[in-house]
Amino acid sequence: MKARIAGTGSYVPERVLTNRDLERMVATSDAWIVDRTGIRERRIAAPGEACSDLGVRAAELALQAAGVDAAELDLILVATCTGDAPLPSTACIIQHRLGAVRAAACDLGAACCGFVYALAVGDAYVKTGFRHVLVVGAEVMSMITDWTDRNTCVLFGDGAGAVVLTAEEGERGILSSHLHSDGSLWELICVPGGGSRIPPSEKMLAERLQYMKMKGNETFKVAVKTLEDSAREALSANNLSVEDLDLYVPHQANARIISAVAARLGLPMEKVVLNMDRYGNTSAASIPLALDEAVRAGRVGEGSLVMMAAFGSGLTWASSLVRW
Ligand code: ACO
Repeated sequence: MKARIAGTGSYVPERVLTNRDLERMVATSDAWIVDRTGIRERRIAAPGEACSDLGVRAAELALQAAGVDAAELDLILVATCTGDAPLPSTACIIQHRLGAVRAAACDLGAACCGFVYALAVGDAYVKTGFRHVLVVGAEVMSMITDWTDRNTCVLFGDGAGAVVLTAEEGERGILSSHLHSDGSLWELICVPGGGSRIPPSEKMLAERLQYMKMKGNETFKVAVKTLEDSAREALSANNLSVEDLDLYVPHQANARIISAVAARLGLPMEKVVLNMDRYGNTSAASIPLALDEAVRAGRVGEGSLVMMAAFGSGLTWASSLVRW
């Protein structure tokens, strides 16, 4: 039994924040941001627009594309680090709003790797007998972005993407997933405050610990290495080579990271999906958002070999190989 991706969907908030807008907020320039990251603009959720609001829109489109009714879902997994609230899970809010009356629902936290991790969990449940699993990646990164810190605020954006997994016999579906972590590197990307280690307080807010901190340069180096390793791992586990790949959908953190990985793998850039120019890094939403755009643009067809790969806070890194 395989978990086939039967439908994809995505949604981004209306408001566009351009590099020019950021020039008026911090000491940066459009030229620096484009040159160092490939990002030109990103979407920002409206006041009161929460993670589940984005996730529901993406999920509805994925269900529609799959031809699956919400009431048929057995499980909803939401990958996010910016959920609506600490409790309940954002997945339960989405379950209710979709009318997925039969579905179990929970969130999964693996930062930028969340979607690939959730896809692997969904795949495992399909192998135990679930028929339809909804996997959503949704983020309101603008909430944990320090808009006075030029090292991070130019990088992130808000959005959501979703896929419906359907149990199917045959060759099509997720071939394998490869998940990794190294918690010794947790300080490279973190939000120090707001949890049980440093609970919310006036002092915590004054020290701006509710916002993301990142050691960009060190993260960059680990990202290139782990993305290359996880691509090779997924291909060799299936006795496939880079030449067999039709589409590579990497986490959209930085165009330079992605082109360095493609060069190391010997993968032509025509096979790589890049959309961070319009959305920036949307964390767990980035891969399903890029995948949905590629699917709707006709870049994959039946039998295409698609690889998704991510790295992120934790650190975590992960890849998934899919026969479309
Ligand atoms: N505008 C102008 N200058 C800037 C900006 C900015 N927005 N940000 C940093 N600079 C400056 C720095 O202060 C530094 O100046 P200095 O040399 O005077 O000290 C200079 O630019 C170079 O800084 P570096 O950090 O060396 O720049 P780098 O080329 O590494 O690019 C970047 C920085 C874009 C952050 C890069 O390191 C990167 O993308 N890293 C990976 C981050 C990532 O992918 N995170 C994903 C995981 S996130 C998650 O999981 C939630």
